[in-house]
Amino acid sequence: MRPDDAVILVTGGSRGIGAACARALADDGWAVALTYRTSPDGAAQTVRDIEASGGRATAIELDVTDAGGIAGAVEAAGTTLGGPVLGLVNNAGVRADDLAVSIDDDAWDVVLDTNLTGAFRLTRQALRGMVRARFGRVVNVASVVGPRANAGQANYAAAKSGLIGFTRTAATEVARRGVTINAVAPGFINTDMTAGILQNGAIDAIPARRAGEPEEVAACVRFLASDGAGYVTGTTLFVDGGLSA
Ligand code: NAI
Repeated sequence: MRPDDAVILVTGGSRGIGAACARALADDGWAVALTYRTSPDGAAQTVRDIEASGGRATAIELDVTDAGGIAGAVEAAGTTLGGPVLGLVNNAGVRADDLAVSIDDDAWDVVLDTNLTGAFRLTRQALRGMVRARFGRVVNVASVVGPRANAGQANYAAAKSGLIGFTRTAATEVARRGVTINAVAPGFINTDMTAGILQNGAIDAIPARRAGEPEEVAACVRFLASDGAGYVTGTTLFVDGGLSA
């Protein structure tokens, strides 16, 4: 069972899917530390929203590609909110789209460093306390892109496929300690990341004939982080209106 004072860290929580996850997890009783990189105002707004609903939250600055900042962010989450960090949502992500033949090293590196290596380093750091506590919940925000091809996103697909592979294997390593590690794989969700690319053609390819909302991803993350999902680990939950069916 999750202790009452448990803290969950949500990366990229100032907007979009991350902010929706932070709100949903606070509603479910987690104290939420959300990280931001460039938008302190957005992060502060999410904190205010949570507090207005009776929850507890704090905002922490973190660039997930900064290896030296990871341990301090996890520690700050626990000390600021006064509880053990027993949850982690690796949500921070970027895309830098191009055809594989044209992707330069910078566009490759930033996408892999943010979406995959950052998630690995945070998980490695957070798992230590979770294993000691014999309770933990890690949810990685992957994508349908990776398991499914999407021309122009080879770097993003490599990162998100890697994240799913990492999820599966790391989950098996800590399962006996009461720690679960799962992924969600959103399809097209209405956020800043997809602004301008959700034209009619893209929507027509989705069986549900609409884009998803951040709250629909957050509901799945909330479930995977809950006590009720204690026997679910190493899996990927697609949240995509049937796109990958
Ligand atoms: P968004 O662009 O609104 O949010 C991305 C968040 O990641 C922002 O808060 C941003 O500041 C943060 N971030 C980016 N680089 C960072 C870094 N180096 N360090 C710390 N934070 C960083 O986009 P959205 O849609 O909310 O994306 C959230 C996650 O969902 C991402 O991992 C994305 O790949 C994934 N996703 C989104 C889909 C969509 O259709 N919107 C579909 C599938 C996956």
